Amino acid sequence: MADERDGGCARHSARKARTLPAWRSVTADPRTRHRRRRADRRTRTCGGPGTAASSRLCRTSKPSGRRVIRPRAHVDALAPVYHGSISDAELAGLGFRRDQVIDFSVNSNPLGPSPAAIAAVQAATWSHYPDDRATVLRGELACREGRGVEQVIVANGSSELIWLLATAFIDPGQSAVVVGPTFGEYARAVRIAGGVIHEHRATPEDQFTVDFVAIEALARDRRARIVFICNPNNPTGVLASIADIEALALKLPESLIVVDEAYRPFVDEPRSSLPLTELDNIVLLRSLTKDYALAGLRLGYALAASAVVDALDKVRPPWSVNVIAQIAGLAALGDEEHLRRGRDEVRRARAYVTEALSALELRVLPSAANYVLLDVGDAGMARSALLRHGIVVRDCTSFGLPNFIRVGLRTVQECERLVAACEAADLASIGAPQCGAVSGP
Ligand SMILES: Cc1ncc(COP(=O)(O)O)c(C=O)c1O
Repeated sequence: MADERDGGCARHSARKARTLPAWRSVTADPRTRHRRRRADRRTRTCGGPGTAASSRLCRTSKPSGRRVIRPRAHVDALAPVYHGSISDAELAGLGFRRDQVIDFSVNSNPLGPSPAAIAAVQAATWSHYPDDRATVLRGELACREGRGVEQVIVANGSSELIWLLATAFIDPGQSAVVVGPTFGEYARAVRIAGGVIHEHRATPEDQFTVDFVAIEALARDRRARIVFICNPNNPTGVLASIADIEALALKLPESLIVVDEAYRPFVDEPRSSLPLTELDNIVLLRSLTKDYALAGLRLGYALAASAVVDALDKVRPPWSVNVIAQIAGLAALGDEEHLRRGRDEVRRARAYVTEALSALELRVLPSAANYVLLDVGDAGMARSALLRHGIVVRDCTSFGLPNFIRVGLRTVQECERLVAACEAADLASIGAPQCGAVSGP
């Protein structure tokens, strides 16, 4: 209790006491008055003396004597999720401006946004509120995907949808399953909702293959409300089959199977996942920030049964998809040629990087996505070594993979700079245990 006893602010307490109801102040005995005031303050501020809330909310006070209101205990315990891009401060410390480095830590269309989207943004007016239901954009997406508008929800990036799913479907204490190592926001969103995360972890020894039998057993055992499958997975680039996902959804009718397809547009000739949305417990998450390079504008959508979409809509903050994102999204969707060229560039870059880095005796894992994992022995050292050459890569230590860096596939020309930097930094000598590309699923 941060009151006068443990360094709480006496002036603050006195001010609060003055705001007590008038009837309190007419009590004759000053000691009774004092006791009542203290009890009253405890009840209003802390949920009553001796309660868990009282000790949690008011225990701490800053040395300055100011009261610190603590967040909910499970929020207090959360660790931040590291997303891996480089900060301006780190760049400045190395004497670089942002335009002097090539950022391979991001995984988006190497050609950047479509010129049509840029032109639409430049012409946009945005002094009015956005259409809260993004009617035109939703209609366009529904039409493209051959689904009803009631099966589509648009959001401020697919990460907002991950949060909405946890908010709408996870009660405190309920479980969700993730297939690690993977994108950290699934676990964070579930934990913020008060849920519990269970991880089935794929291993480098098995080339990070997804074991659906193990996932089903874990989800059943923990009565998982949600199973998150990132497909292809970030950071491993492993692609699970649609047939395996469908079989899992049929075996787990009590769980929502959330398939995050943020990087699916970069998969070569993927089998369509759309038929999965015939199942009521499947949610497909799509992002327009990778394939259409709208990361700074924030845009994503989900396809799901209308009942799921309705639930997400209920917990969605208002106007979360801004005017410019809606306009840019529509323009970007209309420029299919730009997306096709971006995909082709990624395909060429994947082949080039795999061959050139393998020739440098670096171990390159096969990837279906627009990034590859490299086993470099010590990810932190490798990242620092490449940074000195103006190349930014993703250190995968925060994924629990301290041996690996992830390299986003950019234009072939930019990838040549990456390969030259790997050679100049003698990356292979940092500690890669094996040579050549490994074969995989
Ligand atoms: C697998 C995965 N899903 C979702 C996201 C979030 O994407 P968005 O920008 O659409 O919020 C990311 C971002 O890095 C990601 O890697």
